[in-house]
Amino acid sequence: MSEEIFAKVKQIKEEIENAQPQGAEAIEQFRIRYLGSKNILKPLFGEIKNIANERKKEFGQLVNEVKQVAEAQLEALQAGQQDAADQNEASHLDLTAPAKQMQLGAKHPLSITMERIINIFERIGFNIEEEREIEDDWHNFTAMNTPEDHPARDMQDTYYLKDSTEMLLRTHTSSVQARVMKREKPPIRIIAPGRVYRNETVSARSHCQFHQVEGLYIDENVSFADMKQTLLYFAQEMYGKDVKIRLRPSFFPFTEPSAEMDVYWGLETEDDYRITKGTGWLEILGCGMVDPNVLENCGIDSKKYSGFAFGMGIERQAMLLYGINDIRLFFENDIRFLEQFKSAR
Ligand code: PHE
Repeated sequence: MSEEIFAKVKQIKEEIENAQPQGAEAIEQFRIRYLGSKNILKPLFGEIKNIANERKKEFGQLVNEVKQVAEAQLEALQAGQQDAADQNEASHLDLTAPAKQMQLGAKHPLSITMERIINIFERIGFNIEEEREIEDDWHNFTAMNTPEDHPARDMQDTYYLKDSTEMLLRTHTSSVQARVMKREKPPIRIIAPGRVYRNETVSARSHCQFHQVEGLYIDENVSFADMKQTLLYFAQEMYGKDVKIRLRPSFFPFTEPSAEMDVYWGLETEDDYRITKGTGWLEILGCGMVDPNVLENCGIDSKKYSGFAFGMGIERQAMLLYGINDIRLFFENDIRFLEQFKSAR
């Protein structure tokens, strides 16, 4: 008699070990059958009385063991169930839910300013030329009428490449003038935006890297008046129709005569006094008639052709347009600064 009961318990144990219930419903059935309050083992306890005394302990141990096996099995089944649920999450995605908001980047204020300037000149037929930032001495200085012993070289503190007296980081975009004049025949009408470098102490007002836009116009019979009208048009487009400009005599080795152009900024606030040094006028570019030496250096007949050139700094103008008071902000890539230009144009 007791052998029969033992056999029955062992059969249940095997059954439990082989059980492979699939899905939450089947697992719950498994739990009820082997571990629930009316589980399949319960009735067996009623039969203990039929077991010989000396085997009662053994029987108790066996039933306990079966219970533990069932518990372990249930735990494993439930864990597997959770994994499956996790994997299934994708199928529970709500495809109709509104999308997460995308983080749009902002254009850099220097790019915005540069694009504005480029646009203004493109509208009157200037083409964009982009050239190298690592230049040779010839294009940056010599061709631009600034020979080796020329004092004007001291005007710009130059970064030379390591161990080189030839290769340098261009100190102005005027080097593009030389490249374009050597390559193309007049009429030439280009603007050249880009980065330039000078060995200067970094402060709120000046930096060792900054940006310029160069302009060059070469054709027959180009006059100073043409230059002035072109620059007036630029100033009006950039700063408003009733902007006032003035040209002050200046000096550059590559232009003759040379001038600097100021726009009238006004003297209303304390800031206006500070940024215009009390004059109300702001210098925004250098310009002049291309020196015949420069034309000849670059293979253009200076008897037949004349032209004008100008070069303007971008940082200065961007600072004015957006009320930025420290040039270093442009180069720090601080998101808190850059984010503010999301809607700027
Ligand atoms: N290259 C000059 C500068 O960097 C600007 C300039 C360009 C002046 C062209 C005259 C003509 O200051």
